[in-house]
Amino acid sequence: MRVLVTGGAGYIGSHVVKELGRAGHDVLAYDDLSTGNPWAVLSGRLVVGDLADQGLLEKTFAEFAPQAVMHFAASIVVHESVSDPVKYYLNNTANTFGLLKMMREKNVGLLVFSSTAGVYGVPSGGIANEDSQLCPVNPYGTSKLMSEWAMRDLSLAVPGFRYVALRYFNVAGADPSSRIGEAQKEATHLVTRAVKAAKGEFDRLDIFGTDYPTPDGTCVRDYIHVDDLANAHILALDYLVSGGRSDVFNCGYGHGFSVREVVAASRRVTGVEFKVVEARRRFGDPPVLVAGNRKIRDILKWTPEFDDIDYIIKTAWDWELKLDLIRSRHAGN
Ligand code: UFG
Repeated sequence: MRVLVTGGAGYIGSHVVKELGRAGHDVLAYDDLSTGNPWAVLSGRLVVGDLADQGLLEKTFAEFAPQAVMHFAASIVVHESVSDPVKYYLNNTANTFGLLKMMREKNVGLLVFSSTAGVYGVPSGGIANEDSQLCPVNPYGTSKLMSEWAMRDLSLAVPGFRYVALRYFNVAGADPSSRIGEAQKEATHLVTRAVKAAKGEFDRLDIFGTDYPTPDGTCVRDYIHVDDLANAHILALDYLVSGGRSDVFNCGYGHGFSVREVVAASRRVTGVEFKVVEARRRFGDPPVLVAGNRKIRDILKWTPEFDDIDYIIKTAWDWELKLDLIRSRHAGN
């Protein structure tokens, strides 16, 4: 199939582009390169452009004639969304509306959407199922939830339009061959910060809050390897192609690790006893956030391959060690 992938040069998008190529699809990545990198697009071609540019989007749709769209392009830094909500509502929500408008005009009926566990906010008991209450606690989560609602309404209005929204938990790790991985200039995610601390890029790793109501006082998250997540996208596309109805699915392993456990695993895997400082809580962090994943296993037949925190960290570490070389090799290109 011809699949248009917005944000295809970014961290998660590029892993999905890789898997789409492996599955034999014809891919066009559409990315403004604000956080993505051209070298990360391992399959198909890249159009550099802003999703808000309806002229370029229309030209791209006309020339490539996609049969399906996967939509990753978004701003994702939770604390930034609190200080600059308009950026998130424009870049995430409004641009999704523009993409839906284009899909409608061009009669493209299949969409796989990159959503977030952030739509649940602080779920009671820490486990979120797809039918748990939707109550985002920051503009990032709200911007994604509004996008989900727009596609739900479109699917009800237009019989030819169907979508799958995948709600990601804590995505981490990298391509096992270290060709691609997280390469944003400002790393905020725990695993990425931990391996950067091990590499010496930071002089320490802060643990944000040690007084949570969890076994060791630090927050618990459901860390999922990026290639398992990429595979969920391939299954979601297959599901839509074979007539599946519009739906939402959690993407997580169904169990979590505390920040202290991730720190211990990162020291073990890297062999570096990097400095750790116990710091104050970060605003808006739920104590526990773990995926109920029965639905994606049952309906999409998703079977994770990399449910191993040491392996996740190992692939992130291998990638981190290679990243500077890749950056310098591509500098000036
Ligand atoms: N943490 C630290 N130190 C750090 C970085 C993070 O202690 O240097 C802690 C956080 O406070 C949190 C945990 O590690 O308790 C995980 O934090 P991340 O920033 O890695 O991830 P989040 O859980 O905040 O958010 C991620 C994505 C969001 C998504 C959310 C849904 O970044 O986009 O998962 O679960 F909405």
